[in-house]
Amino acid sequence: MSGNLYDYLKKEHMEVLELFRITLDQKIQSYYPEIKEKLYKHMDNEEKYLYPSLEVFDKITILEGYEEHAIAKRLINDLDLRDQYDEKWVAKAKVLNEIIKHHIKEEETYIFKIAEKILNKDDELKILNQIQ
Ligand SMILES: [Fe+2]
Ligand SMILES: [Fe+2]
Repeated sequence: MSGNLYDYLKKEHMEVLELFRITLDQKIQSYYPEIKEKLYKHMDNEEKYLYPSLEVFDKITILEGYEEHAIAKRLINDLDLRDQYDEKWVAKAKVLNEIIKHHIKEEETYIFKIAEKILNKDDELKILNQIQ
């Protein structure tokens, strides 16, 4: 596969936000396993292939990115521990959605811009191939 690295990551962002929207609007839990799988794969790929090379430019912002991933993982863990789909589950899912929205905004408006400055076309293509 080919294409643009940032478009690919943004497409994954949109897919997760859409699954969240359906889950919270319709108060259904059936898409949760897919949300979880997509989020884990996406965050692990960013941490493994994208974030490390950006730390030289703005370490604090990138560390903040890792922290937001860690918070998302803790919330996913909390959601997994609840076997019941109740108001508390929905409330936690809403908080997870908010954290993810905030994080996506930060990536798309700032972190990806850093990447565009630091990475050349070959670097971007290599990362894209690694994550696909
Ligand atoms: Fe991320
Ligand atoms: Fe992302």
